[in-house]
Amino acid sequence: MNRPKTKFSRRKFLATIGLAGLGGATYVRWVEPHWLDVGRHKIHLSKSDGKTPFKVLQLSDFHASPVVSINFIKESIRLGLNQQPDLILLTGDFITHKFDQLEEYVEALAPLAKAAPTYACLGNHDGGLWAVRGGGYEDTEFIRSVLTKAKVTLLHNASQPVQIRDWNLMLVGLGDSWAEEMQPEAAFARAPSNPGATTIVLSHNPDTKMGLKSYAWDLMLCGHTHGGQVCLPLIGAPFAPVRDKKLLGGLYRWNNRWIHVTRGLGNLHGVRFNCRPEVSLLTLV
Ligand SMILES: [Fe+2]
Repeated sequence: MNRPKTKFSRRKFLATIGLAGLGGATYVRWVEPHWLDVGRHKIHLSKSDGKTPFKVLQLSDFHASPVVSINFIKESIRLGLNQQPDLILLTGDFITHKFDQLEEYVEALAPLAKAAPTYACLGNHDGGLWAVRGGGYEDTEFIRSVLTKAKVTLLHNASQPVQIRDWNLMLVGLGDSWAEEMQPEAAFARAPSNPGATTIVLSHNPDTKMGLKSYAWDLMLCGHTHGGQVCLPLIGAPFAPVRDKKLLGGLYRWNNRWIHVTRGLGNLHGVRFNCRPEVSLLTLV
């Protein structure tokens, strides 16, 4: 006598599970990857009191691709520029594989350098030995061309003294470690010529910190982790592509210096969970 009721309940239960699954899939594919956040941190770097605080906008891991549109990149940049940064630093993975919209990408990035001095390093997806194995470019010519046309200065194993307000900065950009392009000796070669400067390192992958430990720097900016991209309760971030899973996203004190790892903006495979995309605003005081 109770059978029809049981059948109905089972059907209802399965329908509920199905709807929940559909809702979850919709959320991780169509909601969270587009739900931009602003990550804010204040970092004490001043070697003497009385310096004027200034704002650094860090943007990373755009991953332009079929699952991360130019429109989303433009929206991210608008949100970043709304924070009125004094300096803009980009930490790699501009593309995921090959990308054929060069002029559209230039147009998307162009507002950055018009708003503030803008510098970049490259990531493992931007071309070279690692990228080509996954269907990417065999060299970095495409993204170098985009950056040049957008007036973004690439620091590839190179450094640049920069004056922002009353701060004497040395920016040091590393080549990517997975691409086997990381050459710290060349990158830091000019740093001793600017002894009183605050040194900011741009290095895509936070695992590079050990290889940079013997060099003098104050703050390192990284991306690469996407914050874990899919962060599961109790389990954590099983797909995070780093050895050191403690530095997935946020500001960390490490060996008397600072490391900031941004969750970045784009993604791989079109999904994010419990790990919203972010523009990072760092106030240096
Ligand atoms: Fe990435």
